[in-house]
Amino acid sequence: MTTQDARPSNAPGHGLDAGRAEAFLADFATMSAFGATGNGGVDRQAATPADIEQRRWLQSLLEQHGLRVEYDRIGNQFGLLELVPGAPYVVVGSHMDSQPTAGRYDGAYGVLAATHAIVRIAEELRETGELPQHNLAVVNWFNEEGSRFVPSMMGSSVYTGLMPLEAALAVTDHDGVSVQQALEPTGFLGDGDGPVAACCAEIHIEQGRLLEDSGTTIGLVTASWAASKYVVTVEGEQSHSGATVMPDRRDALLGASMLVVFARELADRFPGVLHTAVGQLDVYPNSPVVVASRVRLLLDLRCADEAVLAEANELLAAEIARIEERASVRLELERSHEWGINPYQPEGVALARSIAEQLGYPHDEILTVAGHDSINMKEIVPTVMLFVPSIQGISHNEGEETRDDDALAGLDVLTGVVRQLAMGGLGASTR
Ligand code: GLV
Ligand code: MN
Ligand code: MN
Repeated sequence: MTTQDARPSNAPGHGLDAGRAEAFLADFATMSAFGATGNGGVDRQAATPADIEQRRWLQSLLEQHGLRVEYDRIGNQFGLLELVPGAPYVVVGSHMDSQPTAGRYDGAYGVLAATHAIVRIAEELRETGELPQHNLAVVNWFNEEGSRFVPSMMGSSVYTGLMPLEAALAVTDHDGVSVQQALEPTGFLGDGDGPVAACCAEIHIEQGRLLEDSGTTIGLVTASWAASKYVVTVEGEQSHSGATVMPDRRDALLGASMLVVFARELADRFPGVLHTAVGQLDVYPNSPVVVASRVRLLLDLRCADEAVLAEANELLAAEIARIEERASVRLELERSHEWGINPYQPEGVALARSIAEQLGYPHDEILTVAGHDSINMKEIVPTVMLFVPSIQGISHNEGEETRDDDALAGLDVLTGVVRQLAMGGLGASTR
């Protein structure tokens, strides 16, 4: 990465005035208390009490600032500022749900930054009397993480028409509770489709360390890595772990373990291009003195090259047959979620670059390896995605951290981008 450092070396780490900076950091601290864990992180899986409480807090924050809060049929939370009756919206935000024992920044930073950006733009418009071309909406997408309800990016997938509503509402968690059942008592299930979008912006922590390593403050996201995610079921036969003779065993956990190891070997064949992991393993009956009869696991492949991902998927299919043979088990693979390397609209990247340049922040282009709701949104409207640095690239971990100056610099750039988008900076294509 090359870095263009336009900011004078004696400039503060961000260009916001002290009042706005303090207000953002104070709200960020309040927000981080929802689902706080012992080690500085959070646990706010979708539609759990911590996520619900936090959404209620966001609703009151949005309402205090004069935004009207609305929920769509999959529980996406919108804070609407209608300045031009009937005009479509610049939809700005991210997600506030988290992984278990996760960090404070992933997603939540982007929703709060969207809120502060929109509130500031509204104040400025009121002062100048200018009329924007589009209305403004903060969004807190439902279940981006997909940790409680698979797949990830669920709310934005339904909003963009990439996942049928009924299928999303029917997804169940580990205890058999469906999305519909989890959301119904909260009052977060609306009866509409949400605001009509003209364009979209999202800011997020990088979750890697390219920005930090290169001394870059603002990442201009040009495209996403591709992904294939699988739900795998390994079927064996329950038996006595001591008494059953070894040749008679059909050990589902052995088959699952072979797949876990193979996933790592697969990534090692394509260093730097393919990332793989098994992130969840449910073993049945998971009991002492019992050979497991069934394992369900989630396998995740991320790739910087679609041809390599296709090859990796083929190698995986071939390995399945070998594992079935060697462990005397049956494996069933269902591809639960998939996306390609689709670029963000170049005119959005150019717009973000010009704002970062004007404001004097070191910036550069970057790819996103993690999934984001903006990956869905860019399929339907022009979308700008920004990153700020993650300290040491730590993420999905309670130790996830971003420097205050970087978080505030990101808010500054996001505000500039959303201001331009509101004025029609990327035209007016609508969902
Ligand atoms: C979601 O955050 C993902 O990367 O899949
Ligand atoms: Mn996220
Ligand atoms: Mn995440």
